[in-house]
Amino acid sequence: MVKAIVVYESKYGNTKLVAETIVEGMNQVPGTKAMLVELNDADLNKMGDFDAILVGSPNHMGRATRSIAKFIDRLGKLNLEKKRGAVFDTYLGGDFEKAAKKMEKQLREKAPGLTLVVPGLSIRVGGMKGPVADGELPKCKEFGVKIATLMKEKEA
Ligand SMILES: Cc1cc2nc3c(=O)[nH]c(=O)nc-3n(C[C@H](O)[C@H](O)[C@H](O)COP(=O)(O)O)c2cc1C
Repeated sequence: MVKAIVVYESKYGNTKLVAETIVEGMNQVPGTKAMLVELNDADLNKMGDFDAILVGSPNHMGRATRSIAKFIDRLGKLNLEKKRGAVFDTYLGGDFEKAAKKMEKQLREKAPGLTLVVPGLSIRVGGMKGPVADGELPKCKEFGVKIATLMKEKEA
């Protein structure tokens, strides 16, 4: 059984919906157990129990929220050898850099043991408070299915 945890922060609920949909996709793949946890409820000491750790954040000024950035720093203090990871963000648009890119860079620097299995996913929202833009949610489910499938292949 591949165990995964999706940790997210969400001010208005859009990143939460994205995270839920990713978990749904992952759990569609037999032999995968993915769970969802809001950042405030995430227990750092339990992260070692999971084969994959996914981290999601809304884009705030071209980067992840401060709390998510802190969480990634803390992940770096754990032994995450052989673990898999992926990141995702929600964004409004414009010329800002995608938060997912910065999160990936930070993870590579701080937690090199965690291998990023797929490129980060950036999901567009229609306004500051949402909703998630048309056609974006299916990408979240596909992202979840893809990660879980890759994890199963590695396990076999
Ligand atoms: C303080 C703040 C800064 C933001 N900065 C950006 C930004 O730089 N680029 C962008 O595309 N969206 C930006 N947004 C829009 C957020 O990406 C959007 O509110 C978020 O995706 C909604 O997700 P949530 O419902 O999970 O909070 C910003 C939102 C807030 C509240």
